[in-house]
Amino acid sequence: MNFKITTIPGDGIGPEIVAEARKVLLRVSEVYGHSFSFEEVLMGGCSIDAYGEPLTDETIEKCKASDAVLMGSIGGKVGQSKWYELPPEKRPEAGLLKLRKSLGLFCNLRPAHLYPELKKACPLRESIADKGFDVMMVRELTGGLYFGKRKTEVVDGEEVAIDTLEYHDYEIRRIAKKAFEIAMKRNKKVTSVDKANVLDSSRLWRRIFAEVAADYPEVELENALVDSTAMQLVRNPAQFDVVATENMFGDILSDEMAEIAGSLGMLPSASLREDSFGLYEPSGGSAPDIAGMNIANPLATILSAAMMLRYSFNLTKEADSIENAVAEALAQGYRTGDIMDDSAEGLKKLHTDEMGDKIAELIK
Ligand code: IPM
Ligand code: MG
Repeated sequence: MNFKITTIPGDGIGPEIVAEARKVLLRVSEVYGHSFSFEEVLMGGCSIDAYGEPLTDETIEKCKASDAVLMGSIGGKVGQSKWYELPPEKRPEAGLLKLRKSLGLFCNLRPAHLYPELKKACPLRESIADKGFDVMMVRELTGGLYFGKRKTEVVDGEEVAIDTLEYHDYEIRRIAKKAFEIAMKRNKKVTSVDKANVLDSSRLWRRIFAEVAADYPEVELENALVDSTAMQLVRNPAQFDVVATENMFGDILSDEMAEIAGSLGMLPSASLREDSFGLYEPSGGSAPDIAGMNIANPLATILSAAMMLRYSFNLTKEADSIENAVAEALAQGYRTGDIMDDSAEGLKKLHTDEMGDKIAELIK
């Protein structure tokens, strides 16, 4: 089978980690006899430097014409990078949001599980880490505060900034369906996270989740408040299966999930719509501090490539082969700096490219 992949290396560590995911995909294509063709485009700060805008129409068109998009990361350091002297709609992040919206990618999956080998990297109490966890976050990605009306104005001589949290029935319904469909293939539990004790948008969210739940009698629906969920995630993450939530809450909780899974460098993500097309990117950022040093963890990006094979190309065995290779590399003691434990014996610290080589070598 032949698949067209658009790559967006982006800024910071993006080019380094995408190169490793691409290396692993090429190895998969050799072993399993597929052909993947890659076309690279610019987005984010590098696109501002080249074209004066973070996302060009040409980049959007190229993404649309492909079977899937593999992305690294975008953006720089606020206060340091000249990109942040531009008006907000011209900054790197605006490009990513516009791309998600233009491609209709409303469903963001962020799976976090604790590899047994990374228990030491988990900041939770040993008794909690010992139980392990496997959480699939389903984050709504094209609505809420990120896309609501906003303005900054001067009222009575004082500056006022307004962001709007808006959700429509259909937006909640379609993400709820995705969450229940995914739960059906997992442990049949959905925790819908909101702030229904305060927000109207959350009350609508909760009502529609209850309606959709009626079509999935086998799945248990639990409602939880976002503050309490933030606490429960560190107290007892094993209680969760699918966690479904709106855009902003999902952004925040997914960083927390990544941290308890050992590192942001371990958390992949898939951004999907109703058909098989998707955009795959690590959940972490561009880490400008360590860009170009060949020390970033490429595993989240490599695992995102595995999600691409699973969700966009329906190549289950091939996706498994990548995930197994990652587990195997960790079991053999290979680590990047972020998940290294200097006090443990038998661990081998690898550079970004060496980790990519290792995973490629372990593809069976
Ligand atoms: C993420 C990132 C983005 C988001 C930023 C870069 C706009 O934090 O993918 O989680 O907030 O969605
Ligand atoms: Mg985030």
